[in-house]
Amino acid sequence: MSGKKIIIAIDGKSSCGKSTMAKQLARELGYVYVDSGAMYRAITLYFLRNNVDITEGSQVKDALEEIELDFRLNEQRGEVEIFLNDENVEYLIREMIVAEKVSEVAALEAVRNFAVNQQQKMGKLKGVIMDGRDIGTVVFPHAELKLFLTADNAVRVERRFRELYQKNPNITIEEVAHNIEMRDYIDANREISPLRKADDAIEINNTHLTQEEQLHKALELANGLLK
Ligand code: DC
Repeated sequence: MSGKKIIIAIDGKSSCGKSTMAKQLARELGYVYVDSGAMYRAITLYFLRNNVDITEGSQVKDALEEIELDFRLNEQRGEVEIFLNDENVEYLIREMIVAEKVSEVAALEAVRNFAVNQQQKMGKLKGVIMDGRDIGTVVFPHAELKLFLTADNAVRVERRFRELYQKNPNITIEEVAHNIEMRDYIDANREISPLRKADDAIEINNTHLTQEEQLHKALELANGLLK
């Protein structure tokens, strides 16, 4: 492989397999994986814990000044985890209480500026794979490779349900479907940086693909650029 490093942007709706693909791709290429959604989730967790009224701009601004986010490698798992003011919140941010609020928080201009600014800094050295909703359109509009993942709604709900059920057997498929539907709507219809496929993004519909097949497709595209 050449020493060339690129940025790979992966966007798509909730639970369409972005992070699975991004993590595997990062491992194959020896790249850094950044889960941009985790940043919005960690900010949301902070807001919930501190009763930040998101309709009050000054409260949001003050709260953001108190937030420090960073990703640290968990050597045992071989994966990065997000820290909020030095606390590992990788698992807490996946709870339903955060999922129910995160799209509203992520729609706020101040929050987006805060997150995008840090995301762009993480891409300075290239060799980065970032997944989210606006990575190919706003965060890295010049990313060398942009992938836009899609999957049928029923498949996305089923995948998410299976993931959440392991931690919380009381969860129902209806709850998961409702949350995904609500987040899709807010993420795609917000004023600032709505979810959108970049004109130069390559779409991969993984409804009928295995994880290996989807990884193979992405690797082929990346290796084509790294030759
Ligand atoms: O990828 P995820 O489901 O963990 O993302 C959580 C929320 O954060 C999602 O509902 C939309 C928002 N998000 C965003 O607005 N922009 C990003 N780049 C990533 C996530």
